[in-house]
This record gives sequence, structure tokens and C-alpha cells, in this order.
Amino acid sequence: MNDSISEHTRNILGLKLPTDPRWVNLAEMQLEEILTDHAYCEQKAATTCISLIQKNPEKDLLVEELSPIVTEEWGHFRMVLAELKKRNLQLGRQRKDVYVNKLIDFQKKGGSPTERFLDQMLIMALIEARSCERFKRLSEGMDDEYMRKFYRKFMESEAGHYTLFINLAEHYIDKKIVRNRWAEWLKYEKELMNSAEVRGDRIH
Ligand SMILES: [Fe+2]
Ligand SMILES: [Fe+2]
Repeated sequence: MNDSISEHTRNILGLKLPTDPRWVNLAEMQLEEILTDHAYCEQKAATTCISLIQKNPEKDLLVEELSPIVTEEWGHFRMVLAELKKRNLQLGRQRKDVYVNKLIDFQKKGGSPTERFLDQMLIMALIEARSCERFKRLSEGMDDEYMRKFYRKFMESEAGHYTLFINLAEHYIDKKIVRNRWAEWLKYEKELMNSAEVRGDRIH
């Protein structure tokens, strides 16, 4: 099973640029920082899913599929919180999320409701995909075996979420349109990752 997941996430979900290998070592040296940032990523995933339900109550499938994700993401938040507590580390304040803010810059602002909805699904898919890739790097590259296993659990969950958002997009919008826009997002994200500073206190 482990091998098949590894295979599934190998080319991570279409992402065009793998994470800089130095990042894992930097992250491992700043556990309080990385766990804090991770906790807020989970919190934001939960609140964004709640907000997507609020904005799209007429989309039955979306409401049905995202409702359990809210619970799951909040469960992830609690797992990270428990890990901080166990280590006598403090949940810090939320940091400016440069990665997500730059993705938001690329979202269509003035387009049709369908175009805006598509970008909302794809930005979520992308964040899930990159998070999954980052968790995979941590699960493979950290020195501490316990932490490797800890991050493997997150990697497995986020891989499922990435596909969920793509599938939701394709349920409501023509597949070809979804694929074309997804390709644009992947290209943009590659440039973004290429120009981003490698820092170990952030998940992204
Ligand atoms: Fe999560
Ligand atoms: Fe997720």
C-alpha cells in the first residue's frame, strides 16, 4: 500500500517543480515554527471549506463532499496542536502566508461566476497538492522516525483532497476548460516556487 501511495504522489500531482531538498533540513531545525505554520494551514483549509459551502449552497455535491473535509482538516489542526503541546512548544501567531497570497493574485477577479468558481476549486487543489508534496518530503527526509510517520499521515490525507477539488471542478464545469486552466495554474505555481525564498519556518 505504501508503495502505491508513493507511486501515486511521485510526480506530485502534476506539480512542475519539486521542493528544494534543503527545505526539509531547515524545517526540522525549526519545529516550533513549522508546526505553528502547519497548524494554521490546517485551520485555513477548514475555514475555506466552510466558506465554500456558504457561498455555494445550491451545489449539492460540493456541500456533501466538503462537509466531512471540514471535520478532517480541523482534526489535522488538533493533531498538530497536540504535537506542539507534547513537546512543550507554543502555538505562535499566524504568519503572513506569502505563497497563498501570491496564488490569490492569480485568481480571476472580474470573470464570470463560473470562472471564479473554477479558480476557487483550482487554488484549493493546488494548495493541497503542494502541501502533500511538502509532507511527502518531510515524511521521507526528516531524521526523526516519529516525525517521518507523523507527516506521512498528513501526506496521505492531502493527496485525496487534491483530487477531490479537481473532481468537483469537473463535475460543474466542462473537463476541457478545467484542464486548460489547471495547466495555467501549474505553470504559474512553478514560477512562484522558483522565485520563492527557501525558508524552514513555513510549510509553503
Ligand atoms: Fe489537512
Ligand atoms: Fe487538505
